[in-house]
Amino acid sequence: MPTLTRDVVIVGAGPSGLTAATELAKAGLSVAVLEARDRVGGRTWTGTVDGAMLEIGGQWVSPDQSALYATLDALGLKTYERYRTGDSVYIAPDGTRTVYSGDTFPVSEHTRTEMDRLIAILDQLTTEIGAEEPWAHPRAQELDTVSFRQWLAGLSDDEEARDNISLFVAGGMLTKPAHAFSVLQAVLMAASAGSFSNLVNEDFILDRRVIGGMQQVSHGLAEALGDDVFLNSPVRTVRWGADGVTVLADGDLRVDARRVVLAVPPNLYTRVSFDPPLPRRQHQMHQHQSLGLVIKVHAVYETPFWREEGLSGTGFSAAEVVQEVYDNTNHGDTRGTLVGFVSDAKADAMFELPPVERKTRILESIGRFLGPKATEPVVYYESDWGSEEWTRGAYAASFDLGGLHRYGRDQRSPVGAIHFSCSDIASAGYQHVDGAIRMGQRTAGDIVAALH
Ligand code: FDA
Repeated sequence: MPTLTRDVVIVGAGPSGLTAATELAKAGLSVAVLEARDRVGGRTWTGTVDGAMLEIGGQWVSPDQSALYATLDALGLKTYERYRTGDSVYIAPDGTRTVYSGDTFPVSEHTRTEMDRLIAILDQLTTEIGAEEPWAHPRAQELDTVSFRQWLAGLSDDEEARDNISLFVAGGMLTKPAHAFSVLQAVLMAASAGSFSNLVNEDFILDRRVIGGMQQVSHGLAEALGDDVFLNSPVRTVRWGADGVTVLADGDLRVDARRVVLAVPPNLYTRVSFDPPLPRRQHQMHQHQSLGLVIKVHAVYETPFWREEGLSGTGFSAAEVVQEVYDNTNHGDTRGTLVGFVSDAKADAMFELPPVERKTRILESIGRFLGPKATEPVVYYESDWGSEEWTRGAYAASFDLGGLHRYGRDQRSPVGAIHFSCSDIASAGYQHVDGAIRMGQRTAGDIVAALH
């Protein structure tokens, strides 16, 4: 059995694990990164499907994501703006399609007023509570024990307004039905992006993309780490104590180290056997953190035909199978690409269908936004992260109802020589690549402080 000896062993070569390894190496510590898959990048994956470059996983960058921007700069990676010229499309609950400009949905005045009022309440809560320790707020328990759906129902009698507000945080971010997470969880999601207003502003939250693809962040970091990154090495066992660990992976790989960083989403911690077992608190907490589910749909066309019709490619509808659609054309590409999202229970329903029927239903939905040409792409692909053994959902993990105030304060705490790092437990940048990087830096900082 090959045995390595390192200061720190990192489990998972996503952006968080690779950032932690990079920072630890910079501080003069020796590292080994063990990755289950045959590639780095985790939930970022820039693939080629039928000749089209697709961002199968994470892709967008927003202006406040300074940790990600700093990494992009360090790696010499450039970004470009998402195409947004022209009008957007809104489909109302009764199926009426309206082309509109600006960032206000074309809804009745009553619905508009109600949406503005709900956004203002959520902005206020977000400012008060923040992303760092939402569980510590005096109202944490109250806001964590009511579902987002129920809370909205108590605030407004306007169903369209409520559904549109839910669209941004349930379908658009946590990818769970609005009855399945709390108000506090929604507030954390918004606070991690700066405000609820930022979350509902697609020009902010989906501002730019990385030229050549987001996975290059992980490729660049891994390249600098060289032979210290081990692919095809799923970690099966962590033997741990206060002062050291032994990590066993497939391929008879064994690493003895002073610390281990688990840089995998919380739903995968239980795939590793811990010896001795983790404490009761972690056993319980990890059962309350689960990934959402969303199908990211990619459709490529010979041209971005919607642009000729004065449309930006952006569309929203809480009532549609595809709740959001955007122009996702690659930098410098003459072909046009659309990306759409089918979230939570709608994704369940689509996955019940045979693939051909699912494709038809999804493309018909995109067609209702952008016209019949949208139903005839030259390349079609569904990102299905729920089927990926080493992820099991998309985009990221959140607590079930009541879990955030009950357990949140312990999610980042090390246990003996075991540290935790991933976007799913970040504050700023929560659920995003930026948060993965921030957590990698934070975890590395904690370890350097402990070991030096
Ligand atoms: P990540 O999951 O990326 O990496 C963990 C790694 O650990 C994986 O490589 C996995 O294989 C490995 N692993 C797991 N178990 C292991 C074991 N036992 N042994 C060894 N290795 C193991 N973000 C964003 O900023 N903008 C966006 O537009 C989007 N959009 C988006 C779309 C889709 C479809 C997805 C799935 C995700 C996004 N995201 C996103 C989220 C973003 O991709 C995500 O937050 C980060 O990739 C998380 O990085 P981590 O390193 O924390 O985990």
